[in-house]
Amino acid sequence: MSIRRLPPDLVNRIAAGEVVERPASALKELVENAFDAGARQVAVRLAAGGLERIEVTDDGCGMTPEEMRLALERHATSKLPEDSIDRITSFGFRGEALPSIASVARLRIESRARGADGWRIEVDHGLAAGEGPAALPPGTRIAIEGLFDKVPARRKFLRSPRSEYAACLDAVKRLAMARSDVGVSLDHDGRRILALQPADAPARVAELLSHELDRHGVGIDCVRDGVRLTGVISLPTFNRGVADQQYLFVNSRPVKDRLLVGALRAAYRDLIARDRHPIAALFLDIPLEDVDVNVHPAKTEVRFRDPASIRGLIVGGLRRALDEESQRSAAREQAAAPVMWTSSATYDSEHSRHSRESGNPAAFEGNGTPAFAGATMLAEERKLFDYAPAGRAEPAVAPVTSHPLGVARGQVAATYIVAEAEDGLVIVDQHAAHERLVLERMRAARAGGAVARQVLLIPEVVELDEPDCDRLEGAITELAEMGLEIERFGPSSILVRAVPAALGKTDSAALIADLAAEIAELGGALSLRDKLDLVAATIACHGSVRAGRVLSVAEMNALLREMEVTPRSGQCNHGRPTWVKLGHGEIEKLFGRR
Ligand SMILES: Nc1ncnc2c1ncn2[C@@H]1O[C@H](COP(=O)(O)OP(=O)(O)OP(=O)(O)O)[C@@H](O)[C@H]1O
Ligand SMILES: [Mg+2]
Repeated sequence: MSIRRLPPDLVNRIAAGEVVERPASALKELVENAFDAGARQVAVRLAAGGLERIEVTDDGCGMTPEEMRLALERHATSKLPEDSIDRITSFGFRGEALPSIASVARLRIESRARGADGWRIEVDHGLAAGEGPAALPPGTRIAIEGLFDKVPARRKFLRSPRSEYAACLDAVKRLAMARSDVGVSLDHDGRRILALQPADAPARVAELLSHELDRHGVGIDCVRDGVRLTGVISLPTFNRGVADQQYLFVNSRPVKDRLLVGALRAAYRDLIARDRHPIAALFLDIPLEDVDVNVHPAKTEVRFRDPASIRGLIVGGLRRALDEESQRSAAREQAAAPVMWTSSATYDSEHSRHSRESGNPAAFEGNGTPAFAGATMLAEERKLFDYAPAGRAEPAVAPVTSHPLGVARGQVAATYIVAEAEDGLVIVDQHAAHERLVLERMRAARAGGAVARQVLLIPEVVELDEPDCDRLEGAITELAEMGLEIERFGPSSILVRAVPAALGKTDSAALIADLAAEIAELGGALSLRDKLDLVAATIACHGSVRAGRVLSVAEMNALLREMEVTPRSGQCNHGRPTWVKLGHGEIEKLFGRR
């Protein structure tokens, strides 16, 4: 076997395979170069999704003919003045993009440095194809035609002009958000798509993201250890079926980094269904020495010196913002009914005192269905219902006004509670609502350091696959913290000694199997906090009153009252609403009275 040096055009073509995958990636490199050249205005023109032609014009510093020739050479760059690869502030730094693109397309560069004349150089698949004077204002115009025309192996991976266009539009949006101070325009097949004036970051983001975010978004601004996170994220209820509207930036560089995407996901855990995705534009500003941008051929991933702390900042920051926002909206609802908050506060503190103490297994026996509200149905707690209006028989007496979610009037399909509030009709999904309450209750108990557990008189043996047993064994400490005490019992079984009191009488085998599956799905990369959240959410689901269970009026009212004092109770653990209200006005409209 003889070793030989590859000819330069082949080397470039191999590099191109990494740098340029499709029109959108070539376009990204050109716009980044324009930004790096100090442009104030960048104009992008595309034909057929970039498959036919991509053209980027900027009013940046321009190049002399000599610089243009150098720019087309591999590893020639103007961007690492001190060869300091660890302090990169420009988008480009390798001197790869232009020679790579030029090796797989026809490329024309026209450029004019300030105070000089314009010049043009053409390259056809890596070969010089002529040069000469050019007339253009100061700046640079680069056009690419026939990308991958002569590289069938690549060409066949390209998609329709429509999907290539979608990818180009996405790339331009990301870059435009990254540098809101630069004006950016986009034309496709002669049609003006974007015309963005220089703006500050929030205004630029607002212009490019769903306008609905004005009402359904939460602003983010937090700092930790010299790292700053800013941007906007959607409320959990405002979500999408695909993760296409997540824009992440590290020191103004658009990235699609796994760590950041994972942290975003973790922040919405149990607020949003698995198959739904939040909208987000997040900007991370981090000291240059704490991040390495030279780890990915398309420069879309980065490596952090301290990934755990970045993850913590994002998950914590977003979570706090979402919690505060949910409290604010709860407060808006409360303001309408100031009377109730004194009485329900009593209920709340009674209740939390109780759930700490209830370790008594007898409380959960004798009730064939899963215990409603976990421990809330104990005799001593029933007296708490006394102040709650008792429902349908006394409509005239019940002080409807004092409760935002109203007074229970009945149950429909053994699934929905119908309640009358001062300002309308409330319908509650009992399972969704209760699942949320159990989760929040477990969280509160955990925060207070005391999760009540119920010791099983006879420990239960659950048979599982060996890998599932291994996974559960690895989470024994976290599970115990939630009140679920398990032990390994031989290679393929788990012994359940105690379950969380909030759970009532439950099918531990099903719960254990669900937990094992969840832990498997999320892999070993879970933080302690994520594991606990996961466990809490799964336990909550198992411990909740099911759809199909008939509830007494007292039970329904207790559920409504607890929802009123529980944070985030307006959404189930999967981000769907737990209740809806039909205002009097809306009811009147239904009957043509308005
Ligand atoms: N629009 C432009 N205006 C002015 N100079 C440019 C422009 N585009 C490219 N250049 C010059 O050409 C050089 C090579 O560009 P190229 O994109 O190939 O490499 P780079 O930007 O240095 O690094 P990378 O490969 O990471 O993008 C740049 O360093 C810059 O000096
Ligand atoms: Mg570049």
